[in-house]
Amino acid sequence: MSTEDELHRLREWLAWHNYRYHVLDDPEVSDAQYDARFRELEALEAEHPEWITPDSPTQRVGAAPLTAFAKVVHRVPMLSIRMEVDVNKWHDSVRKGLGLTAETQVAYAAEPKIDGAAVSLLYERGHLVRVATRGDGREGENVTAQARTIAALPPRLLGSGHPELLEVRGEVFMTLSAFAILHARAVAQGEKPPKNPRNAAAGSLRQLDPRVTAQRSLEFYCHGTGEITAREWPQRHDAVMARLREWGLPVCPDAEVVTGAEGCTDFFQRMASRREQLPYEIDGVVIKVNDLAWRARLGFVSNAPRWAAALKFPPREAETVVEGIDVQVGRTGALTPVARVMAVDVGGVTVTNVTLHNFEELARMDVRVGDRVRVCRAGDVIPDLVEVVQPEQRDPLARPFLVPVVCPACGAPVARVEGETILRCGNGFACPAQRKEAILHFASRRAMNIDGLGDKLVELLQNEGLIEDVADLYRLKDTPERIAGLARMGEKSAENLLAAIESSRERDLSRFLFALGIREVGEATAASLARHFGTMTALMAASEEELQGAPDVGPVAARRVVEFFRAPRNAALLNRLLAEPATGWHQTNMPVRWDHPLSGATVVLTGTLSTLTRQEAKARLEALGAKVSGSVSGRTRYLVAGASPGSKYAQAQALGVEILDEEQLRRLLS
Ligand code: IVH
Repeated sequence: MSTEDELHRLREWLAWHNYRYHVLDDPEVSDAQYDARFRELEALEAEHPEWITPDSPTQRVGAAPLTAFAKVVHRVPMLSIRMEVDVNKWHDSVRKGLGLTAETQVAYAAEPKIDGAAVSLLYERGHLVRVATRGDGREGENVTAQARTIAALPPRLLGSGHPELLEVRGEVFMTLSAFAILHARAVAQGEKPPKNPRNAAAGSLRQLDPRVTAQRSLEFYCHGTGEITAREWPQRHDAVMARLREWGLPVCPDAEVVTGAEGCTDFFQRMASRREQLPYEIDGVVIKVNDLAWRARLGFVSNAPRWAAALKFPPREAETVVEGIDVQVGRTGALTPVARVMAVDVGGVTVTNVTLHNFEELARMDVRVGDRVRVCRAGDVIPDLVEVVQPEQRDPLARPFLVPVVCPACGAPVARVEGETILRCGNGFACPAQRKEAILHFASRRAMNIDGLGDKLVELLQNEGLIEDVADLYRLKDTPERIAGLARMGEKSAENLLAAIESSRERDLSRFLFALGIREVGEATAASLARHFGTMTALMAASEEELQGAPDVGPVAARRVVEFFRAPRNAALLNRLLAEPATGWHQTNMPVRWDHPLSGATVVLTGTLSTLTRQEAKARLEALGAKVSGSVSGRTRYLVAGASPGSKYAQAQALGVEILDEEQLRRLLS
């Protein structure tokens, strides 16, 4: 085969497996196999730069920066949708507009209204030639170079029979987990964090430097079409979407065809109840007449079609008043300003505390006690402050917040760490606030899972002098009457607490290690270290180099581990923990217990999960010691099957592999 043929073959292979992954959500090969082929292509292109085309998968890293965005006039305007409150009325108006009798059924395409940025993709004979933002609907911006970095967007359509010209419309968005990561990174670097996934998606797309866009995890779902010049074209929306999907374009897996006003209401309610579990942010649902000929008959009013309606959920933003600004001390001593606000409902959740991230952000926002503010929340991200509303109208006596010079919990001087924006209390375990956070982390669900040991109780136990550190927890059983005598406790609760503490002695080494709260040692690192070293003694004796021998343990984490064990206070704490009566994690020479059914198991995923993205499912499985593989074989322990599973389902059945549904997976993960 000639080198050029080889190059084409590699690109086809990569495009196909990219489609399996991003569109069908059902990869046939492992990430490692994909990466290996990708590097082969990179090597070939390095030898023959003249063969690089913009639709090569290697070009997703992003082209050279632009100085400005060019304007694009949409061939067919990108309309907006009218918001409807009464579905029945709207359904009646559709029926009336079409001259239908009450008996005639109307089928609607029902889709989640994803909170992202609308774009228009232009394909000429199957090649992506231009991507534009919606803009004002008539004129948008050319973001082709930026959009080319989105892995889910095929630069070339798969299959055949593509129209001369095909304009696809859809939503560029960020999943909630990608948003949370971007948000956390911005906060850590002292940058202004994005306020919601929509801003994050739109902002990522509107980067003059496409290489910045390439580093953001953007996704795309189609929701319609613009201009099309095709000889033959489907006459129903769902059929159009199915065809786009065959050609490699991602379509939202939660879209459905429903009937009449009842079907719409039912869909709306089902989506509303799933809102908190979906991997992406939605602000409502969109209902569209499914029959395209009917759409043409219905036409438009002003610039919105009569055939589409948006049904909105309660907004995730609300206004309230700042009642105070507190400074919280975290487990590592980091000081975080938090605004206490008048209780307000934000999209179904009552918010009373809003993080201000750090003092730079606080100064930038210039939030003062008494201010009227807009707050928001997205997914699991802690409620955030959008802005001060009309600061010019605030109480003239309100003063800017002063950055603390001493720790509010222990009075030790506050220090700014070199190269970090965060202020810290450097008092370590001598600071009661840091001790409290360390105990709470130790007891948390994913660490030692001590049920019932929450914020208030830890504070109470500390104030009563019953605990100073986590080792003291295991002594509480000697004084049950003192526990029962605590405010709001009683005998029964005391018994439950002590039982929960006792049962935590069974947690394995990996949880124990995570529970210690060593910086840079998260669940995955803890699991890797536990598996690699097997016992606490072996781990404590390991050098930095030896620690790095464990999979995925880098130099920073290794240094933190060594530093942790070297600190006299920690060494003393561990001595006490390890001297506790032996039952599990703490016996020095006991091998790690891998009693979790997922540990060491090979797991294959197929179909779409409704509450996790594939990447999240993979990360969670791996954290528990499972190996996630792309194909079913005799070694597969479990097949996890989501909605519309692929061919792997039949393969697993044929091989007698145990098949788990999403609920069973969630139970195993929790
Ligand atoms: S259909 C004329 N479907 O919501 C109808 N829009 O104004 C064209 N959106 O900016 C839009 N999810 O980007 C449609 N499943 C969906 C959608 C959706 C989100 C956005 C769209 C537009 C806005 C509505």
